[in-house]
Amino acid sequence: MYFRWSWLGVGRLWLWDILVVFPFRPEYLETLLGDVKKVQKAKEYRQVLGSSPLGGGLISQMDDNIWRIHRKIITPTFHFNVLKTYIPVFHEESLILLNKVEKKFTQDDGKVVVPNVNPLITLGAFNMILRNAFGVNIHAQKNEGHSFVSAMYEATEIIQTRMSYPWLLSDLLFSLLGYKKRQEESTRTCHEFTESVIRQKRSEYRRKQQQKEGRDSQLVSGLNTHANTDTSKENCPMEFDNRLGHANDEIRDEMNNYIAEPKQVTQETNVSCHKSFLELIIENEESDEDKMSDQDIRDNMITIMFAGQDTTATTNCLTLLMLALHPDIQTQTLKEIDDVFGGPSADDGHVPTYAEIMQLQCLDRVIKETTRLYPAAPVMGRGMTHDTPVGPYVLPKNTSVVLSSLDPLSPSIHKVMDSLEILNPPILHGL
Ligand code: HEM
Repeated sequence: MYFRWSWLGVGRLWLWDILVVFPFRPEYLETLLGDVKKVQKAKEYRQVLGSSPLGGGLISQMDDNIWRIHRKIITPTFHFNVLKTYIPVFHEESLILLNKVEKKFTQDDGKVVVPNVNPLITLGAFNMILRNAFGVNIHAQKNEGHSFVSAMYEATEIIQTRMSYPWLLSDLLFSLLGYKKRQEESTRTCHEFTESVIRQKRSEYRRKQQQKEGRDSQLVSGLNTHANTDTSKENCPMEFDNRLGHANDEIRDEMNNYIAEPKQVTQETNVSCHKSFLELIIENEESDEDKMSDQDIRDNMITIMFAGQDTTATTNCLTLLMLALHPDIQTQTLKEIDDVFGGPSADDGHVPTYAEIMQLQCLDRVIKETTRLYPAAPVMGRGMTHDTPVGPYVLPKNTSVVLSSLDPLSPSIHKVMDSLEILNPPILHGL
């Protein structure tokens, strides 16, 4: 949806006593985003997200100091070298997803149908993020009914509904219409699950530390009979997982719920094994000056689940749609994938390396172009901390502003609208 309010430059809306302003001109957005002292997160974030399972996670954290400290602790856990180690999980979950999509394409009578892939992709994204953020596998793609999956879906739906219907910002209406009760129930389930994972990971970490310390002291006293044991591997759950090699699938699946993820050593990185966001936070606690409480960790884990799954799933679906609408670009993208991986006949099932993925430049452009046309999170809410001049207007202190990356005045959007939203990867990177 695009607003053609170019003659205004700014839109205004009163929600009871709350003033919400929509600045449209890019230069207005620049003014507002450029001065962090004059803007903070919109207070509606605390009201809508703070009361949800996300609690005081990064998105809804209103205290600037706490936000800064938490950002400092969390940012290194999203370092590129860490993200690269997530590739095996992405690959494994993608294969499960592919299998499910293929089955859906063929009906029992052999007829080929085009299924709605959105729910399947969303579940795939859910389990990918869960495995990489929490370090546990609930096999969400096969286990849609898992209480945490249902609770997260419920919470996400309530948040989106509350954001879409401004009258639900009234706590009274939110409660009278039954949303509050539903939100409390989903919050309880999300919190219980996440807290149990934190407890489990903490005890896993303590046990490994004790084992390591035990071995170190044996080494020191010369009593060690396994001098060749590489203790650095003790923290690499690849070893741990390998010990399950002969366990039957059922036990393996069950154990997978409680042990860390299978890991892969990536050649291109210094990171010898995959560690989830939670494992990294727990490990770094000893060296970090600042610490997060278990409640902070919980809220940020749930925030990552919320922020990551719907956005990436929506982007993936829209990318597929764009490729379907533009067969010429689809052919070009597929050819590139075949060139890099050798085509279906050469598929040896190996986990794609980071270097291989980096060669997929056409695909990269298609995804970027899709997110430019259809950003999965097209608006951000901010609140003014001071009276601020914006163009010919003054935004009074405490005004909420809605900033949109769907810039209705930029020439590119006009071009897109006028050309019926044509996907045009070459316009990126000046090709
Ligand atoms: C296409 C994918 C994505 C899009 C379009 C997107 C978009 C955004 C936007 C617009 C914000 C700012 C929200 C605001 O301040 O009002 C944001 C924040 C955030 N996103 Fe994403 N996101 C994406 C993927 C992800 C993923 C995969 C994760 C994690 C796994 C993630 C985690 C976060 C977190 C934690 C924040 C809060 C940052 C902070 O306030 O310090 N996002 N995202």
